[in-house]
Parts: sequence; C-alpha cells; structure tokens
Amino acid sequence: MAVERIEDAPQIELKDIARSYGEGEATVHALRGVSLTIRAGEMVALMGPSGSGKSSLMNILGLFDRATSGTYTLNGQDMTRLNSRQQALMRGRKIAFVFQGIHLLPRLNALSNVELPMQYARIPSARRREAALRALQLLGVEPLQKRYPSQMSGGQAQRVAIARAIAPDPDVLLADEPTGALDRKSGELVLGAFQALHDQTGVTVIIVTHDPFVAQHAERIISLEDGQIVDDQLVANRLMVSQPLSSGGHA
Ligand SMILES: Nc1ncnc2c1ncn2[C@@H]1O[C@H](COP(=O)(O)OP(=O)(O)O)[C@@H](O)[C@H]1O
Ligand SMILES: [Mg+2]
Repeated sequence: MAVERIEDAPQIELKDIARSYGEGEATVHALRGVSLTIRAGEMVALMGPSGSGKSSLMNILGLFDRATSGTYTLNGQDMTRLNSRQQALMRGRKIAFVFQGIHLLPRLNALSNVELPMQYARIPSARRREAALRALQLLGVEPLQKRYPSQMSGGQAQRVAIARAIAPDPDVLLADEPTGALDRKSGELVLGAFQALHDQTGVTVIIVTHDPFVAQHAERIISLEDGQIVDDQLVANRLMVSQPLSSGGHA
C-alpha cells in the first residue's frame, strides 16, 4: 500500500452527506449527498444562493450538528462516531468560527474578548495573553486592544472577532457570511485579513457566502445549489487585498 504524504492527505473529507429537517410531508432535504475533500491550508469559498444548504453544511463541518447520513472525516478521524462530548472537545481545539453578526461582548475590551474563550478552555493566563496579543497583531487590531466594541467600527470589530477565533490556533477556520453585515470597504478589509491570516498561519479557511465578489478572494470555489455541489473550481483571477495590516485601519 502506498504511503500517503501528510501534506497530500485530505484534512476534511465528506462522503455522501445528507441532512434533512422535519418528518413526513414537511421534510426539508437541505443537503442531498454532498461529497468533497479539502486539504490542509486551502482557502475555500462555499458559495450558493439563500436556502442552498450552506449553513447546514457549515454546522456539520463545525460539529454543531450531525448529518442524517454520510461520513465526515477530520484529520483522519471519523467525526460521525464521536459522542456529543467528544464533538464539543474537538470543536474547542481544532475548529474556529466567525459568524455574520459580530458577537463581541460589549462590556469587555478587545483583549478580554479575545481571551475569554481561552479562559473557558482553561489555558493558563500568561499563554492566553500571549496568544491573544499575537492574534490581534495578526489581524492589525492590536492598537485597539483596550477599546470596547462600541468604540470600534464594524470592520474593526469583525477583525477582533476573527482574532478571537484564531487565537487558540485552530486547524480550520469556518466563517459564515463574515462580511454580510459590513459595507463593501470594511468587507474588503476583513477579506484581506482572512487572506493575510491564511498566508501567515497556514490555517485552512472556509468562507460561506452568497456573494461572488467575496468568493473571488478564495483559492477555490465550491458551489452549492439545492443541497448539492454543482461546481468546484480553482479561482482563476483571485482578488487579493493588499493592506498594511499593522495599521489598525479605520474601516
Ligand atoms: N432547523 C431547520 N429546520 C427546518 N428547515 C431548515 C432548518 N435549517 C435550514 N432549513 C432549511 O434547509 C434549507 C437549507 O438552509 P440553509 O442551510 O440555512 O441554507 P443557506 O445557508 O444556504 O441559506 C432551506 O430550505 C431551509 O429553510
Ligand atoms: Mg446561511
């Protein structure tokens, strides 16, 4: 048997994933047999119109939900066999999320917002602080570390939220419509932050979007329609956002 080199091994492997909601005549088939492979370090956009099953797929990838059928392998481990507790552990260690709405806690400054999940994960305070500052720096928002969410623009707050997601050094970063609540300029800065992050850390990035402009910032676009993959292509003219990340930015 050939030995597979680590860097060639798929990090995420979905085989024939189906997810339906409800029963009987009211059953909604949100995913109808999705199979795909994503390698470590890829930056992928998962694109499709509203209702195509993007969030359903993301919830399965993020171990928030289970498929009705099919298998999901992450780093060679079968996720469908894990119990809920094991899934939660895996979620905490390996997978990070950024959502559309920016869910920073209003009473905590940027630094504390980034540190909080690591506090829950019982990471010792010195390591926590170090990881939080590194993440804020990577996203260009370290100068804002003492600011409260009300003192930040939408784009700045979203970058703090991304810093919070990546501070624990996850393998996979999942983002569901991360620029959906932002104007175009702030959205571009956030996409640039994802690109810089991806370049500098090698984390696998999966961005869910209905917007082709957002998807063009990834290396690969997987298109979903009516619960099925209808297209999967490398991006020919990838849009790159060049930005001086260290400035803190005003958008
Ligand atoms: N919890 C749920 N219960 C019932 N139907 C759902 C649920 N979540 C999603 N759906 C349905 O599944 C389909 C896919 O939804 P979703 O995965 O949210 O798509 P997208 O994120 O692409 O908009 C839609 O028809 C939606 O109405
Ligand atoms: Mg959705």
